[in-house]
Amino acid sequence: MQFFLDTADIDEIRQGLDWGVVDGVTTNPSLIAKQGKPYLPTVKEIAELCPGPVSGEVLATDVEGMLEQGRRLAGLADNVVVKIPLLPAGLQAVRTLTEEGIKTNVTLCFSANQALVAAKAGATYISPFVGRLDDVGQDGMELIEDIVEIYRNYLFETEVLVASVRHPMHVHQSAIIGADVVTLPLKALSQLYRHQLTDIGLANFLADWETTGKTFDD
Ligand code: G3P
Repeated sequence: MQFFLDTADIDEIRQGLDWGVVDGVTTNPSLIAKQGKPYLPTVKEIAELCPGPVSGEVLATDVEGMLEQGRRLAGLADNVVVKIPLLPAGLQAVRTLTEEGIKTNVTLCFSANQALVAAKAGATYISPFVGRLDDVGQDGMELIEDIVEIYRNYLFETEVLVASVRHPMHVHQSAIIGADVVTLPLKALSQLYRHQLTDIGLANFLADWETTGKTFDD
């Protein structure tokens, strides 16, 4: 299973890469807007920092506009994946970009049928948003189960990239189901490391050794 960081914050990406468990990065217009920096240069900076796949999203919603912006994004660096919204025009652009050898990440997926048409269009990744489905009272993880099963049934090569991840249970369930990738904020990634018994156990080990009055070399 791959871990992508869902952020456009350079410091967070540096931190995640230092931990050694981050395989790629996903961004979107909202995340880049939060940084208050220019759009394309931010995607380029991230792609230079992170050796793995870096998703940068088009802002256009018509086919020609998405193709033009998608090609420019892909031209920034070899590891840039073009993120495209799940619209008929978007999937038409995905088909063309795929034929040109450009990798795509189809975003804003909220149903199994949307995932099915994205795979048929040749998407490299599909991004179902689990947290936003949970927010409106639907079960985000049930959608991941369905997509993974459908893709297995028909041997689609499109990778399931679980997005809108909010907490460690989303990661745990994605791993059990067999999703290919989860993209998560740094805070959610840091929560994967934590358990209260680890903290208590470590404090006890160190306190017990402290009672000897000896050092590491004694
Ligand atoms: O990048 C897409 C997705 O991960 C957004 O997450 O938390 O804004 O629903 P969120």
